[in-house]
Amino acid sequence: MNDAHSSAIAAAADVILAGNLLGLPTETVYGLAANACDAEAVLKIFSAKQRPHFDPLIIHVADSEMAWKYCHVNPAAKLLAAEFWPGPMSLVLPKKDMIPDEVTSGLNTVAVRCPDHDLARACIQACGLPLAAPSANSFGRISPTTAQHVRDQLAQHVAYILDGGVCRVGVESTVISCVDNAVEVLRPGGLSIEAIEACLGQSVPVVLQQDVQDKHLALSSPGMLDRHYAPRIPLRLKSANEDWPQNMRYGYMSFSGLPWAAEHHQCLSAQGDVNEAAHNLFAAMRVLEAADIDMIIAEHVPQQGLGIAVNDRLSRAAHA
Ligand code: TXA
Ligand code: MG
Repeated sequence: MNDAHSSAIAAAADVILAGNLLGLPTETVYGLAANACDAEAVLKIFSAKQRPHFDPLIIHVADSEMAWKYCHVNPAAKLLAAEFWPGPMSLVLPKKDMIPDEVTSGLNTVAVRCPDHDLARACIQACGLPLAAPSANSFGRISPTTAQHVRDQLAQHVAYILDGGVCRVGVESTVISCVDNAVEVLRPGGLSIEAIEACLGQSVPVVLQQDVQDKHLALSSPGMLDRHYAPRIPLRLKSANEDWPQNMRYGYMSFSGLPWAAEHHQCLSAQGDVNEAAHNLFAAMRVLEAADIDMIIAEHVPQQGLGIAVNDRLSRAAHA
């Protein structure tokens, strides 16, 4: 950590301790962060994002020792934390009283994660507190993967943006519920389901919207709201044998190749690598959103590894 980093971290910690909002870099996407133990500061997140209050936040910690101060851990969660933290994984566990209801939308559980980003962890360490942070975008819109993306959407709401460069992973964390010793994925993300299953030695279900019986659980995970991560212009998924409407200007988002010529074309991974596709996904959506087109047509990517998270975001972006 050089001098510039140290003074940036000090500035970021001052913002948090004063009860204001910070643009926080992580390995997944940038967060809009506040002191998780300060209900008033947390409420500023909801108003800045225009986020509904039923939608709970993730708290970010410097290490697992800090995590277990704020929630009740169990053996499965301990195993996952030891294997995958710091990393793109959020664990949902029964919360302790220090976490205000504003963070968890009144639920008795809290999502906690230790980000794999040196500046983020140094900032949390400097505050000595967990940081509540959703992705730093307006609710339902495209998640930010650079400091400039945060500036573009939320400049007037953040007191400071800690610039940690381009996010390495590019899609949000995998949210795993570990409540009552039942392990379930609530949102596919930057940690693959294959890796989670290999760690636990058991298969782990993904609880999709249509499987959720409990309405409250569905509403508590906006990853589960149908429309999310959406560009301003319509996005449609490419399927075979489909007639597209005439007289429209299309942008095209391909996985690897260039199957048809399009003026506005974003290729997620020339190599055909799902990790690279995840890394590039949201920036590509932003480029096409800003182009002079009527519609984005996107290809699915292979349904494996981080490809599952990429396809999840594409389906939600496509949901009209
Ligand atoms: O990678 C990430 O997770 C990023 C960075 C900033 O850490 N954060 C992020 O936060 O994506 P957000 O607020 O956009 O998404 C949080 C997800 C939502 O789907 C939310 O419902 C779920 O976590 N979640 C939070 N607390 C929960 C709880 N107690 N029970 C169930 N789901 C919860
Ligand atoms: Mg989000």
